[in-house]
This record gives sequence, structure tokens and C-alpha cells, in this order.
Amino acid sequence: MRSYTVHTPVLQKEVIETLAVQPGGRYIDCTAGTGGHASAILKHSSPGGQLLGIDADPAAVELACKRLAGYGSSVLIVNDNFVNLESICTEYEFSPVHGILLDLGLSSLQLSNSGRGFSFQYAAPLDMRFSPNQKITAADIVNKYSEAELVRIIRDYGEETGSHRIAKYIINERPISTTVELAKVVEQAVGFKRGRIHPATRTFQALRIAVNNELSNLESTLSQAVNLLGFEGRLVVISYHSLEDRIVKRFMQQEAKDCICPPEAPACNCQHTATIKLVNKKVITPSLEEISRNPRSRSAKMRVAERIVTHPESGGIAERIYNPGRENNDIWHKPSLMKEILRTSLVL
Ligand SMILES: C[S@@+](CC[C@H](N)C(=O)[O-])C[C@H]1O[C@@H](n2cnc3c(N)ncnc32)[C@H](O)[C@@H]1O
Repeated sequence: MRSYTVHTPVLQKEVIETLAVQPGGRYIDCTAGTGGHASAILKHSSPGGQLLGIDADPAAVELACKRLAGYGSSVLIVNDNFVNLESICTEYEFSPVHGILLDLGLSSLQLSNSGRGFSFQYAAPLDMRFSPNQKITAADIVNKYSEAELVRIIRDYGEETGSHRIAKYIINERPISTTVELAKVVEQAVGFKRGRIHPATRTFQALRIAVNNELSNLESTLSQAVNLLGFEGRLVVISYHSLEDRIVKRFMQQEAKDCICPPEAPACNCQHTATIKLVNKKVITPSLEEISRNPRSRSAKMRVAERIVTHPESGGIAERIYNPGRENNDIWHKPSLMKEILRTSLVL
């Protein structure tokens, strides 16, 4: 059996609490990874709970399927991009739901897999795709994009002040084929100050964001997620850098307002109404104890919102919790369908 680095789920207790996981509830984990949060959600939603897990990475899906196989027909793992969230839920008739989780970024599995190109600690081809079905790799960007495009990516997605110098050095050193070569080029461009993070860290983040279209996918998925929640359903998002967190914060603040007209507008003409309320005004971060146990959690920021309007198909979601004595539980539970899907995804 292949060995892999186990991913420790971040803020796991807080995820279960803020998602308000309850027996019989229905949940979506948009970033199932190797199934850490997913298995905790399934445990706390038992008996009768259901979980739809999504991950773009087929290697993660394979591991999640194995890890969660014991939950049988209660779980369904789909290998897809979460930007297709609404169409996935339509296909599997999986809405409205009680809670949706996005735990963004990379898993330890991806970071430690030397062949994926996410980390410059291992010499590997510049790939960085979550899914092999994606067309553009980091090598394409590094070796084919214009200097101006490289500056924009490194500056906007890496928040790197040395973007012009780095882009110039990259252009001069092309072709660059491995992670280690690229890290050296960045180091030559901007220097390495002792005690600071490695200078290539921000450029690697920028390339990964560009390769996977991460920011625009996140923006699109947040509004899809709110539409799939039932009344009082919860949306929980964990982000790992300021660009992601800014998008989540702005989205939640805007969706929690009744009017989004510019402050200088003489009267409201936006016809916007709030669809969610903020559950935690302040961002939730890991405790010092969690950070010392799992240093990868140190940059995590969690935001939580609750839907305050009814879902067109559900009315009050609290009435729709699985109840063994009720006749219409089939609306929620399609064991034959779930079993079939689990079987399909296990052979991916
Ligand atoms: C931090 S890990 C999630 C770990 C998971 N919560 C656990 O406990 O095992 C993030 C996961 O999200 C996946 N991912 C990132 N962006 C995605 C996207 N747009 N669509 C689907 N999966 C995505 C990555 O492949 C990765 O497996």
C-alpha cells in the first residue's frame, strides 16, 4: 500500500460546533481532501446524516473514499471542482442542506507529494494543478507568459513587492523546469534575508492561485453555497491567506446587508436583501495549543454565516431532519443512489 502524509484537519472542533452538526443533518464538504473533517461530520450527524464530499484532486478522492467507506450509503464523494457546486447538487439531488464547509488551500498530502510541484522543498516538475484534467500548469505560466503577465500574477496573487525583478529574472532564465530551479531564480532576484520566510514562498502561492483559478472559483462558489442552504443552514469557510480571507469577509458582509448601494447614493435602488447573518463577528483562529500540535494551522481564519431566508424547496430546514418514523424521508435519503455513487467513486 502507498504511504502518504496524514492531513490533520484544522479547527475540527470549531467546524463541528459552528456547522451545528446534528444527527440526521445533510452536509457538503466542498474540500473533502483525505476526509478528516468529513469523517467528523459523519460521526456527529449519525444516525441518519448524509455527506456529499467534493475534491478536485483524484488522489485525495481515492483516499477519502477508502477512509469513509464504513459510512456506506451515507456518504458520496465526487471528484470535481467546487466551482460546479450547484450542478453537482442538482445532479445528485442534494439540496437544501444544513451546512457547507470550505477548507481552502492544500492538504498535507499535496504538499508532501514530491511529484506535484506545490513545494520547493522537493525537486519536481512545475505542475501545481489540483486535477490532471486542468490544462495549464505552472510551467506553462513560468515559461510562456509575458513579463507583464508574470508581474501581475506575482504581485496580485503573491502580494510580492519584488514582482518586477522576479519576472525579469524568470524571463532571463527560461526555460525553468523544476520547483528548485524556480526557487533559486526568485532567491537571486530578491535575495534571502535570514529569519524571513523563503523569498519564493509568495511566488509559489501566486502561481498556484493562477494555475487553479482559485480566487474567482472561490467567489463564484460562495454565492452558489448560500443558495443551497436551507433556512438556518450554516456556511463555514476556512482560509489560509489574506487574499482568500478578504473575499470571504467581503462576501459575507455584503450578503448580510439589506442595501448595498454606495454610501453617496441619495436613495436605495439596489433591491438587495440580506440572505445571511454573520454568526461570528470576529474571525475564528486556532488556539496556541492547536498551532503547536499542527503548525500548518497557524494561518487559518474561519468565518461562519447562517442563512436567514427559506430555501425555495424546503421551507424551514429544521422540519426536514431525518426522522426514522416519517414517511417522506426518501426526499432526503436515496440509499440506492448513494450506494451506487460510492461504488463508482471508489474505483476512480
Ligand atoms: C486543506 S485541504 C482539505 C482537507 C480536509 N478538510 C481534511 O480534513 O482532510 C484542501 C482540499 O481542497 C481541495 N480543493 C482546493 N480547491 C478546490 C476546488 N476548487 N475544487 C475542489 N477541491 C478543491 C484540494 O485538492 C485539497 O484536497
